[in-house]
Amino acid sequence: MRTRLALLLALFVSVPVALFAEGGPPSASAPFGETPTAHARRGAVASATPEATAVGAAVLGAGGNAVDAAVATAFALAVTYPPAGNLAGGGFAVGRTPGGELWALDFRETAPAGTWRDSFLGPDGKARRGASTRGGLAVGTPGTVRGLESLHRRYGSLPWARLIAPSVRLAREGFRVPPGLAKIFSTYAADLAKDAVASRLFLPGGEPLAAGALLVQEDLAKTLETIAAQGADGFHKGAVARRIANFVQATGGVLTEGDLASYRPEWRPPFVFDDGRFRLVTMPLPSSGGFLLASILGQLHFARGAIDDRDAPETLHLVAEAERRAYADRNRFLGDPNCVDVPLAALLAPARLAALGRSIDPARATPSSAIVGGAWPRDPDQTTHFVTATADGGAVSLTYTLNDTMGNRSVVPGVGVVLNNEMDDFAVEPGAPNGYGLVQGESNAVRAGARPLSSMTPTIVLEDGRPRLVLGSPGGGLIPTTVLQVYLNAAVRGEPIGEAVSARRFHHQHLPDRIELETGAFPEDVKDALKAKGHSLDLSGTVYTGGMLGRVHAIAFEKDGSLTAAADPRGYGAAAGK
Ligand code: GLY
Repeated sequence: MRTRLALLLALFVSVPVALFAEGGPPSASAPFGETPTAHARRGAVASATPEATAVGAAVLGAGGNAVDAAVATAFALAVTYPPAGNLAGGGFAVGRTPGGELWALDFRETAPAGTWRDSFLGPDGKARRGASTRGGLAVGTPGTVRGLESLHRRYGSLPWARLIAPSVRLAREGFRVPPGLAKIFSTYAADLAKDAVASRLFLPGGEPLAAGALLVQEDLAKTLETIAAQGADGFHKGAVARRIANFVQATGGVLTEGDLASYRPEWRPPFVFDDGRFRLVTMPLPSSGGFLLASILGQLHFARGAIDDRDAPETLHLVAEAERRAYADRNRFLGDPNCVDVPLAALLAPARLAALGRSIDPARATPSSAIVGGAWPRDPDQTTHFVTATADGGAVSLTYTLNDTMGNRSVVPGVGVVLNNEMDDFAVEPGAPNGYGLVQGESNAVRAGARPLSSMTPTIVLEDGRPRLVLGSPGGGLIPTTVLQVYLNAAVRGEPIGEAVSARRFHHQHLPDRIELETGAFPEDVKDALKAKGHSLDLSGTVYTGGMLGRVHAIAFEKDGSLTAAADPRGYGAAAGK
């Protein structure tokens, strides 16, 4: 990885780059290997691909700020990380300017105007299988390009076209498929084969692109050139929008050119709360991430017992019990705040968090059947998170997604973009599990123009008003618990960021009623102690996670003023700095 990244940087960067550290082999407490990190004096980036990280670092090298680097990295991931990097998806970002201004941008997809509560139900009143995950009806109105433009207009400093140019090159000249991406093409080959352009691009000659093959995306290069020349209008209006709408309608959807033209990102006050000496700046609704972090951490302050020892069964028990209670609330009450009244203040009232925290029995698991709620999917390839920061205190924490890995697994002819299937994040049949076993309520029902409830949790941690950590993760419903654990490790327990990221992880989300442990990661005595407290354990990992929970990209602001960027060893991303 080091050689390849250094080579890419040599192509894009005209300034010296800081050191790159290789990730090491697995160890007892870091079952997926040591975290690749990069130390930097001026600015740093960590993302899911070495190419996108190199593009972001080059922008910093050219004098760009953290927002410039984030915009360029996002476009580069749309080319080099087709599982989740995107133009036709959506996401969230939180940030901080060097002057200390905090911001949050919501560029989540919306339900097209032609959808309604029962769009996905059959004549029997039940959700039609696959309707919200495959085909045109699964597609929400994309928000990424308009979102990146808003971000750049408000906080960027380098020219827009300059930030897109490296991605045009990567799409036109191609990049070598890494083994991790080859595996994704192979895993989803049956679905990709059903789509003419996806199969031509990713399964040429009927076989999934192998590791080392060159992936060239000429249509995507042209779309990026149009966006570079015309701004977001080049995507949301005109020929590109027409092609997207026509293709979505031809495959059973209702997205129109009008939906694309009228899409608007929303600047929102960030979700800010204090946890001891740290202030967490994270995503408000329609992401549930900020709520979940605040609820879990709030309950833990009242729980009977300590969570200092990261891997002790008592710690896992207390945290999992707080997660169980927070996720039950999430599924029952949360939705798009533009459409439903969410009783956030009541749910997070100190008295209620105290009652929930005190209801945790230190000796026994509480059955989830005693707490009303639901469950939903997780998949570390289906979303991606990246971070950029500058030593003057500028930072961007951005998570964006197509929802499932490679979205609805189709590519728009002549445009080259993979389409999202974000409509499945709604409760398509309120009160019943969706395709992934998700049980959510009316508050997240399909409503034309609404944003589906999310779990994406881009986060910045402050200490004494100064940035301490920038972090986030993919993983659907397990994003907040992944962010929680890395925050606890790096900030509260004071571990170096590399260690904090590679450490083994666990997760509870109320239903199914069990603690999920990373496969092969926890010793027998920990598992036995949890079982003795009455917990069911899921030790298998799922088909989606490959036994791993989340893929964190993070930057730590060190006490000496330097930065350390970290790329989760569970993925194949890279960290770089200068
Ligand atoms: N699509 C996953 C999420 O937004 O949580």
